[in-house]
Amino acid sequence: MGLNVIMMGPPGAGKGTQAGRFARDRGLPKISTGDMLREAIREQNPVALEARKLMDRGELVDDATIIAIVRDRLTKPDTRPGFVLDGFPRTVGQAVALDALMAERARGPLVVIDVVVPEQELVRRLGSRRICDGCGTNAEPGTTACGTCGGELVTRADDDSQVVLERLKIYERATRPVLEYYRARPTFRTVNGAQAEERVAHDVDRMIDDAAASGGSARAAGPGRVSARVAE
Ligand code: AP5
Ligand code: MG
Repeated sequence: MGLNVIMMGPPGAGKGTQAGRFARDRGLPKISTGDMLREAIREQNPVALEARKLMDRGELVDDATIIAIVRDRLTKPDTRPGFVLDGFPRTVGQAVALDALMAERARGPLVVIDVVVPEQELVRRLGSRRICDGCGTNAEPGTTACGTCGGELVTRADDDSQVVLERLKIYERATRPVLEYYRARPTFRTVNGAQAEERVAHDVDRMIDDAAASGGSARAAGPGRVSARVAE
């Protein structure tokens, strides 16, 4: 059985931060569709350069392109013990496609963590975020160069205040329904993301371990019991 995790949440919720840390701690690959797209843009990949036009406006890239990227990534052997998805799925169509991929893999359930943060805090975080121009890593607050590669720190192209509002709107319209798609599963958990990063990390660890442990057996308990399992 693999440990298969999806980190969900609106722009700025800390999906990438928590997915990266958890993946490092557990020796699992972090699969971030946003990071993969930005890396492909840096490499001047033609499909990614086309996708960039949408990303820079805060819109979603089409399902077919994104599903193909994830399907290909999930065939790599390093995903056999599991993976941590960040930023995928973000439409119900992507969630349905992922379920089909998971059924083919037959390597354990999906643990879904929804990171919840109030909108004004999301806007604040994205307004002050800097990333490395070279490797794309989020900068530590108060630093003047990338802690990973020493690269120059810049504002992410889609962190412009108008684009952030558009991203939040699209999240509500396209991605919130994905939470409803998953909510009744015994492996769905909600974490308060508006706490200190270490506190969120502590809660995420606990919830993932608990959800993974209950994943197989709780399925038999049916959806009624599960909806009561949303954590504090
Ligand atoms: P993507 O890269 O996934 O961006 P996003 O969902 O908008 O989310 P962010 O990366 O901005 O936020 P995050 O939740 O990862 O937060 P982070 O940890 O960085 O997608 C970008 C674009 O690519 C999309 O708009 C779309 O165009 C395209 N795309 C990607 N996937 C797609 C898909 N599946 N389908 C279609 N299109 C797709 O944290 C944010 C900031 O807050 C950081 O500065 C961080 O240091 C700070 N922070 C984190 N945690 C805390 C905390 N607890 N307290 C205080 N500050 C914190
Ligand atoms: Mg991110």
